Amino acid sequence: MTRTKILIDCDPGHDDAVAILYAARHCDLLGVTTTHGNNSLDNVTRNALSVLTLAGLDTPVAKGCADPIAGVRIHAGNGHGKTGLDGTTLPEPDRTPIDRHAVDFLIDTAQQHKDELVLAVIGPATNVAMAIKREPRFAGWLREITVMGGSTGLGNITPVAEFNCWADPEASGVMYGCGAPIRMVGYNVTSRTGTNEDDIQRLKGGGRIPSHVADLLEFYLERQRQFFGLNIAPMHDVCAIVPYVHDDMLTYHHCNVQVELQGKFTRGMTVCDLRTLTEEGKAMRGSGDANVLVAVEADAPRLISHVIDTILSYS
Ligand code: RIB
Ligand code: CA
Repeated sequence: MTRTKILIDCDPGHDDAVAILYAARHCDLLGVTTTHGNNSLDNVTRNALSVLTLAGLDTPVAKGCADPIAGVRIHAGNGHGKTGLDGTTLPEPDRTPIDRHAVDFLIDTAQQHKDELVLAVIGPATNVAMAIKREPRFAGWLREITVMGGSTGLGNITPVAEFNCWADPEASGVMYGCGAPIRMVGYNVTSRTGTNEDDIQRLKGGGRIPSHVADLLEFYLERQRQFFGLNIAPMHDVCAIVPYVHDDMLTYHHCNVQVELQGKFTRGMTVCDLRTLTEEGKAMRGSGDANVLVAVEADAPRLISHVIDTILSYS
């Protein structure tokens, strides 16, 4: 099977780090772009470079937007620690970001790999929205956008909003309305798809890189316990990439997705229309055309075991 050409837009972030290592093993990882989100742009960019340095990967990294399109910059600091990737000491980056803004790098890469590039958006969608606005042909050049963001139900950063969407809802709205094929895995699935203590112990039995990941996940699991009472560390971001390696680990429903921008209590919520309306029923309020494949189920044990096996394949 040919390896999917993928570019990851991210905000490392513990689960972003796992997604990068996973994609590098199973896909043709053409680049990494960084965005504000889990922490400051400088910190997440350094974290991305450190993870790639740890794994000996020369994937180009382009630095992106430091602030959301219209809102105030808010970082998800607590969940990922003060550096954005607390829990282990990673190597200093062996290189700097490329001399090209992430937005331009996204556009260049999509044009260069027309109809073949999958764009994985696993942080706030600011860079992607800026690329859509700057180059009207950008969305049409992409094979697909795969998003970790939103939710068909409960949120994490608010009762109804998931962090990536909430951190720049205007950008998410631009992305979901761009016309490119989009698949979305939200918190409704990822909150139940995570690593536990046993998985961490398995990683500790591996080499240097799996041991570093084990330390990172130990920190992340503790924070998930502390804030959400979870006994797993949700592997949110890698769930957006797994479908290009195994297409039977997640189940999707094609439906209309809109992003709430005005609600006092609901700003950043993804409104996913999962109603089973008939053609006649489509006259009901809010029934727009299906624009997103939304994940509704995951084979979590199989997916997580596969991801752990992948990390253990590093020395
Ligand atoms: O809500 C989960 C998302 O927020 C993930 O991308 C994680 O990295 C955090 O940024
Ligand atoms: Ca992320």
